[in-house]
Amino acid sequence: MTGSSPTSIGLFDSGLGGLTVLRGMLRALPGPNYFYLGDNARFPYGTKGHDTIVRYARECSQFLVSQEVGVLIVACNTASAAALHVLENELSIPVIGTIGPAVRQALSRSKSGKIGVLGTNATIASGVYRQGILALDATARVSEQACPLFVPLVEAGMLRGEIVDKVVELYLKPLKEQRVDTVILGCTHYPLLVESIQAFMGPDVSIVECSDAIASDVVALLGPKESSAAPGRVNYFVTDEVGRFNFLASAFLEGQVVSAVRIDSF
Ligand code: DGL
Repeated sequence: MTGSSPTSIGLFDSGLGGLTVLRGMLRALPGPNYFYLGDNARFPYGTKGHDTIVRYARECSQFLVSQEVGVLIVACNTASAAALHVLENELSIPVIGTIGPAVRQALSRSKSGKIGVLGTNATIASGVYRQGILALDATARVSEQACPLFVPLVEAGMLRGEIVDKVVELYLKPLKEQRVDTVILGCTHYPLLVESIQAFMGPDVSIVECSDAIASDVVALLGPKESSAAPGRVNYFVTDEVGRFNFLASAFLEGQVVSAVRIDSF
């Protein structure tokens, strides 16, 4: 993995959410070339059934493998929950999902062991976070909350304001009442709502985004040589219209110019 040319890294998500992971990767590891696929034709994933999500995840991965990426990041919790093991078994490159890194970070931060998990309907229904946390600490208390309105808010570019605060209150109130001290943002779209989530939960509650934890796992995998390389190129692909994706992605990536290519391969 520490050869002379930087390894290319592929990431996919249903849309914009995985950009929060890409942002973390670009900060921690600017050297590799990145290939980001936003499957916006089939967004959202979080309301779909297990087999459908596995099929989508396979197809997105195959596209990225065809771009000769050396590492695949499943930058989507819903796809990680449903398909990580399938992809790990089927692909011959390292595959990194969101759940393990977020679980480890949450357990290292929580003092009370009371951990809240936010996610899409599919992720929460899968129980992967609860199982992952309890496998490492059987005494932890896990409160899960599906937040189906968060992803549409983000994809509409609505990241703050009165409506966002109301929806945050609706979903986070039960976790606040249960006095969790750590909240996992178990969907890669949710870090874009972190301001409102942190404000509602208060400054003493630790909010875990999986992007930092994923970045340290990839740095550990690729080694320090990759970390110090000159900035690589980021290639963006979508499965539907590019216009809105380019506009919102550029804003999320702090003004970087995003010019996605539309693919029709599936
Ligand atoms: N960003 C994704 C996740 O982490 C998927 C959101 C969706 O398409 O429902 O779960």
